[in-house]
Formats: sequence, C-alpha cells, structure tokens
Amino acid sequence: MRTQVAVIGAGPAGLLLSFLLHEAGIDCVVLEARDREYVRQRVRAGVCEQPTVELLTSLGLGERLAAEGMPHEGLSLRFDRADHRIALTELTGKAITVYGQQEIVKDLIDAHEARGYPISFEISDVQLSDVDTDRPRVAYRDSGGNAQVIECDAVAGCDGFHGVSRPSISDNLTVFEREYPFAWLGVLARTPPSHHELIYTHHERGFALHSMRTPEITRLYLQVDPHDNLANWSDDRIWAELTARLEVEGDFALREGPILDKGITPMRSFVAEPLRHGRLFLAGDAAHIVPPTGAKGMNLAIADVRVLARALEALLRGDESLAAAYSDTCLRRVWRAEHFSWFMTTMLHTDPHADGFARQLQLSQLRYTTSSRAAATSLAENYVGLPFA
Ligand code: FAD
Ligand code: DHB
Repeated sequence: MRTQVAVIGAGPAGLLLSFLLHEAGIDCVVLEARDREYVRQRVRAGVCEQPTVELLTSLGLGERLAAEGMPHEGLSLRFDRADHRIALTELTGKAITVYGQQEIVKDLIDAHEARGYPISFEISDVQLSDVDTDRPRVAYRDSGGNAQVIECDAVAGCDGFHGVSRPSISDNLTVFEREYPFAWLGVLARTPPSHHELIYTHHERGFALHSMRTPEITRLYLQVDPHDNLANWSDDRIWAELTARLEVEGDFALREGPILDKGITPMRSFVAEPLRHGRLFLAGDAAHIVPPTGAKGMNLAIADVRVLARALEALLRGDESLAAAYSDTCLRRVWRAEHFSWFMTTMLHTDPHADGFARQLQLSQLRYTTSSRAAATSLAENYVGLPFA
C-alpha cells in the first residue's frame, strides 16, 4: 500500500495529527495495536489547557467539549489541613477545562469515521525500515493476521511510551530521565464531586488529588509505592485513605460511591532528543513523559502534532525548513512542561526518603506559592497553558 504519512498509534497525538493532515489534503493511515472499544474507553487525563481547548474548537472538534466540559477558574492546594486557592483566571485571564482524554479520543475517532479517514485497529508486529531515506516503509500484520507493507513519505511515531517507534532509532537519541519513589493509584467513582474545583493535597500520609469528570462522576488519585499492587487496595481501603489525606479543619466531606475503574501508574520524567531521525518524527508520549501532577502530558502531545502537521505539509511540498526545526520548536515547550511537572510533583508528594530539612523546604514552598501573588501567578500561567509557539 502507498500513502503519504503513516501514523503509528491512535492516542490523542496520532488521531489529531491524522485529522490535521487529512484536512490539509494529505493522505495518511493510522495504525493502532488495540481494538476500537479499548481505545475509546481507556481512562486517562482530564485537564485540557486553554490553548488545547481553543485549538480543538477552531478545528470544529469542540461541540461536545463545549457542552459537556467543565470549565475551572481556580484550583486548591490543600496542606496543613486547610485549602489555599489559586485563582487561575483572576491571575492569568485564562481557564482550564475538565474533559476526559477518552472523550477527546472518541470525538476524533467519530470525526475520522464521519469523513472516511482510515484507522486500522488491532494491528501487530509493526516494523519500521528505511526511515533515513525519503521512502520509509512500515511492515505490520493487519487484524486478520495478514502481512502488510506501507510505503510512504514520512512516518509519525505517536505510539506512546511503550511503542516501537522510539526504540527503532534509539542509537540516534539522547535520553534524559528521572524516576520518582511513588506512583498514582487512580480511581473513577460514581459519586458527585465533593468540591467544585480540583484539590491537590500535600499530606504526611502521601499526596491525594480530587478531580472529576461529570457532575455525577468523581476522579481521585492517591500517591502509592511504585511497587504496590492493586490487589492490596480494596475499595474500603481506598476510601479510608482518601478520607484521611483530604481531611481539613472546616467544611468538607468526601462523597463515596461505587468504584468504576482503578489502576496504578508509575511516575517518571523522560525526554528522548531529537524528536526526528530522517523521515521518522516522534510526537507525544513516544518522545517524552511528565509525571501527571502538572496535568501536562496530553496537552504536550497535542502541542507537538500541531507543529508536526505544519512541518509535514511543508515537507511534502518540498520545503524542509519546518521539518528541520520541528524538534527544537517542540522541545522548548516540552522542557518548560518537564520543569513545571517536576516542580508540582516534588512540592506536593511525600518522599519516603526525605529528611526533616527537605520536608520543611517543601512546606515553605507551598506557603510561598499560595501567599505570594507573583508565585501563584507563575504556577497559574504554567497550569492554564503557555501560548503555542
Ligand atoms: P498514548 O495516549 O499513549 O497513545 C499511543 C497509542 O499508540 C495507544 O493507543 C497505543 O495503544 C498505541 N500503540 C502503542 N504501541 C503500538 C504499536 N507498537 N503499534 C501500534 N500502536 C501502538 N495528561 C494531561 O495533559 N492532563 C492530565 O490531566 C493527565 N493526567 C494523567 C493521568 C494519568 C493517570 C495518566 C496515566 C496520564 C495522564 N496524562 C495527563 C498523560 C496523558 O494521558 C498522556 O500524555 C497522553 O495519553 C499522550 O498521548 P499520546 O497520543 O502521545 O500517547
Ligand atoms: C487529572 C489528572 C491529572 O494528572 C491532574 O494533574 C489533574 C486532574 C484528572 O484525571 O482529572
């Protein structure tokens, strides 16, 4: 088969890139390892930066986002058993919108299907070759197990952290990495949010986060040991731990309800540079990971492919300049998000190896961030999303 761009992976990065390229008249195919229902239901990110919302809206993909997304003009940092509000909109003029990543993925899949843009689900054994020529090839097995080969002008590696694209060029990449001594246990529960805004909690028992999906569905996270096992976390234990960490002096009661989904995610910071080798371009989690405390991963994936779509359009017209600049352009935003996510993570989590000095520094940083307008504005402008390049 022949196409112009082969896109590996149907997460937010791959699907949005494919949409942008098709809308620009470029032929492309998305290859996805999982089945359609799995991809549509996978529970992950929830926070959309303002630039992400504006981009999706400008592309005509914002109808359900506007109707069902929950705009937020502030968030709480909870420590010393009290809430300290960061007034995002008052400080920056911008807001974030809580709208589940799987809803964005559903909107993108629906837009593909309505327009006849192809996505091949349940493919396997992807192998990239000739990416350092101008005729790269992608070999794979289709959902029926038949061997297929795509010949193309460029390959977009949007296959997440565990995909095949990055490993296929690892000899040409420099990796920067940091692991953290904690993971997140994420819970989706059928119960109304206990507060109208997100609450990021620093507590001696560990970090906890109160978020939401709809007026009836709450999303919650607990810091756990990275080697911990889901089998150790009964629903009763999860609610007891959330209640202990979210306790405040004042009016707050955690609303409990049936748990619909739970999972443990390790936390790491990771960047592989550059984001391009020959005609293979990496985007999103395939190239970089942030710990989720800054709510940046999906937003970065979207920012990458906005730049990549323009670079590929120019490249296919014979203009190499934007493709040559692609990696450097994206890495500026990536490293800002890496720093912000590291900052939020180290400020809010309880490091089991930290000494008393480190814990006092953390509390001092929390008090400063919530009492200085300058410090709060810095957090807020990063959180709502810096303008696109
Ligand atoms: P992915 O979503 O990982 O998509 C990659 C796709 O490629 C997948 O569909 C996968 O099945 C497919 N694939 C993998 N290997 C292959 C292969 N060999 N062949 C074909 N297909 C393959 N980000 C935020 O911005 N805000 C948040 O609030 C936030 N919260 C988070 C909370 C949690 C608990 C977690 C885990 C993540 C969170 N993130 C958040 C991060 C966000 O979910 C990711 O950064 C985002 O999914 C990256 O999108 P992507 O398209 O690059 O990769
Ligand atoms: C959510 C996830 C995050 O990583 C975060 O920082 C805030 C909210 C969420 O899933 O709702």
